[in-house]
Amino acid sequence: MSKALEVNGLSVSFGGLRAVDDLSFDVASGTVCGLIGPNGAGKTTVLNCLTRITQPSGGRVSALGVDILSLPIHSLIGLGVMRTFQNLELFGELTTLDNVAMGCAHLFRTGYLSEIFGLPRARKARQHAYAQAEEVIDRLGLRDIRDQAVSELPFGTQKNVELARALCSKPKIMMMDEPAAGLNGIESAELGKRIRTMAKEYGITVLLVEHDMPLVMSACDKIVVVVQGKKVAEGTPEEVRRNPKVIEAYLGQEAR
Ligand SMILES: Nc1ncnc2c1ncn2[C@@H]1O[C@H](COP(=O)(O)OP(=O)(O)OP(=O)(O)O)[C@@H](O)[C@H]1O
Ligand SMILES: [Mg+2]
Repeated sequence: MSKALEVNGLSVSFGGLRAVDDLSFDVASGTVCGLIGPNGAGKTTVLNCLTRITQPSGGRVSALGVDILSLPIHSLIGLGVMRTFQNLELFGELTTLDNVAMGCAHLFRTGYLSEIFGLPRARKARQHAYAQAEEVIDRLGLRDIRDQAVSELPFGTQKNVELARALCSKPKIMMMDEPAAGLNGIESAELGKRIRTMAKEYGITVLLVEHDMPLVMSACDKIVVVVQGKKVAEGTPEEVRRNPKVIEAYLGQEAR
């Protein structure tokens, strides 16, 4: 199976702190990989490196065969790399449809003048973005809330709108930072199914950072466990669940 994502010797230092320490793992195309570990383990920092928000002090990352550490953040979207954030970043007053369409507007950007004057090229770009948004809205079953302002929706539904927006650009790799935070058990189980569908039916490679263990165990093909920036385990959900180092890392956290 080809690798969609390859991380080699990734390291990030903040002053004296090694937030990520010589971390290596890879993710096969069309699979779901969990990245788990106690609070402060370095998970978000890894995602920030993979999405060009944080510059690592060492290591190599290749996404879809491209060395991404030398790319600017906007070219990642063109390459098909997308992420969702630990906190929702939606436009509350806008409708579901508008928010979702925003997720792929950049793909059809035509330039300010043609947008201001509503020239045919800009109109066409807008139509493309909205057509793609309608498709994703149907796919995720959000048609009932298509015209509702996002701020009026319950939190769990807003999370689905955020996912739809990320999917609108037809990403090949999707990174998600704690997508289940604030969801109830039922919503989180639904999210797990959606993540599986994204990978298995649409071929999207998913890197999932999450504390919700039932979700991680049911959604992931494999799991990488980090503690203090270092990989302590890697394997199938079943292997990781039984690994004494993993159990210790989590029990240690609970004791603290
Ligand atoms: N910009 C920064 N400057 C300094 N230290 C940072 C910065 N970002 C993160 N850190 C530190 O790096 C370590 C890893 O943080 P990170 O946010 O990656 O952890 P995490 O695994 O995502 O944790 P959580 O599960 O709580 O979200 C922590 O000790 C954190 O305090
Ligand atoms: Mg985090």
